[in-house]
Amino acid sequence: MDRLRIIGGRRLAGEVQVSGAKNAALPILCASLLAADTLSLARVPSLQDVRTMLRLLRQLGVRESRQGDSLVLDATTLASHEAPYDLVKTMRASILVLGPLLARLGEARVSLPGGCAIGARPVDQHIKGLRAMGARISIEHGYVVARASRLRGARIVTDMVTVTGTENLMMAATLASGTTLIENAAREPEVVDLARVLNAMGAQVSGAGTDRIEIQGVESLHGASHSVMADRIEAGTFLCAVAAAGGEVVLRGVEGAIMDATLDKLRATGAEITAGPDWIRLAMQGRPRSVSVRTAPFPGFATDMQAQFMAVDAIAGGTATITETIFENRFMHVLELQRLGADIAIEGNTAVVRGVERLSGATVMATDLRASAGLVIAALVADGETVIDRIYHLDRGYESIEKKLGALGAAVERLR
Ligand code: EPZ
Repeated sequence: MDRLRIIGGRRLAGEVQVSGAKNAALPILCASLLAADTLSLARVPSLQDVRTMLRLLRQLGVRESRQGDSLVLDATTLASHEAPYDLVKTMRASILVLGPLLARLGEARVSLPGGCAIGARPVDQHIKGLRAMGARISIEHGYVVARASRLRGARIVTDMVTVTGTENLMMAATLASGTTLIENAAREPEVVDLARVLNAMGAQVSGAGTDRIEIQGVESLHGASHSVMADRIEAGTFLCAVAAAGGEVVLRGVEGAIMDATLDKLRATGAEITAGPDWIRLAMQGRPRSVSVRTAPFPGFATDMQAQFMAVDAIAGGTATITETIFENRFMHVLELQRLGADIAIEGNTAVVRGVERLSGATVMATDLRASAGLVIAALVADGETVIDRIYHLDRGYESIEKKLGALGAAVERLR
């Protein structure tokens, strides 16, 4: 099991090319199922979760090839409508094949994802919305079994904002008869990127990026080409690393507009930030100031940035509160940060973080994707050596993070 060995205490300086967004690529890969044609995608990040999704799509009959740096998915003929447990259990986002399979084939059998480290993460809203569109859905032996000769447009109000729930329903609605309205829809940029692809494939989606998305169903979709948007969470992770360690970084291939909440909070720590149409620069002199955050659906502060920002607050001057409102168990990184010397107390869904002057290196364990990113940031500022175990969590969402950090001058080594 790979581990990362980090020697902390170095200032960081240099440039980072931001990769394509994992949370845009995953639903967009599933959109290929909607058309008996080819979908050509550029800037698909090379991540464990993407490889898992491609394995699932191949099993469903999608043929995959490479043309230059584009991935070409040919879904002309599908061979199966089933997403098996052994694949779904390793990646919850597999649930995103449910809507497309139901819309394209009229049937789908998708394993329930089961719980995960950060929370129960049920898919009841996905099921509620598909039922509203006329699908007959039962839960049999741990599988969602869905049938619909043809989905019909419906007005759906989700009980809470759900990113993949919005994406699943939006994809299903593209081939329904009539108009679907999703109210209380997720506004994340990744939802907007998916809508761009669907419209390029001949769908009629409007309102993506707002909490009210309207989809006019069409008879069929065709192929398209698309370049996946930048990963705002990877970008925010590197900005937090430099805000904590000190130095300066220029991120290439990302626009500031999709991460205003993160930039605002980092400016409040004392970081100097400038941004252009496809770059963001952050410079940090001295110790960051403590800044409190409360996670919320987009455009609020992203829950996927919570652990990384906590690492900044852990060594900041002052005391801050970090409130997690999206997932019920997303503080696993706190116990590991405490092993590095952080002074954090948890009170319900709020962590009170008292900044300390120094963290000290230790052996710690990654528990989930973004928690491990938070540990990497803390290790970059801790005195001495930190070894982070179980970094397969990190590999799910970060493309060769040790190379990108190494290019900034960090002492990071992957131990096989
Ligand atoms: C997406 O997960 C992201 N994953 C997550 O990123 C991200 O943390 C999350 O959105 C919130 O922004 C992908 O896009 C692949 P939700 P998702 O449905 O869609 C509850 C990462 O690190 N809920 O928006 O699964 C749910 O339990 C990952 O890249 C229901 O109760 O999250 C949670 O409390 C982690 N029933 C809240 O809603 C449902 O049917 C938000 O979940 C659906 C969700």
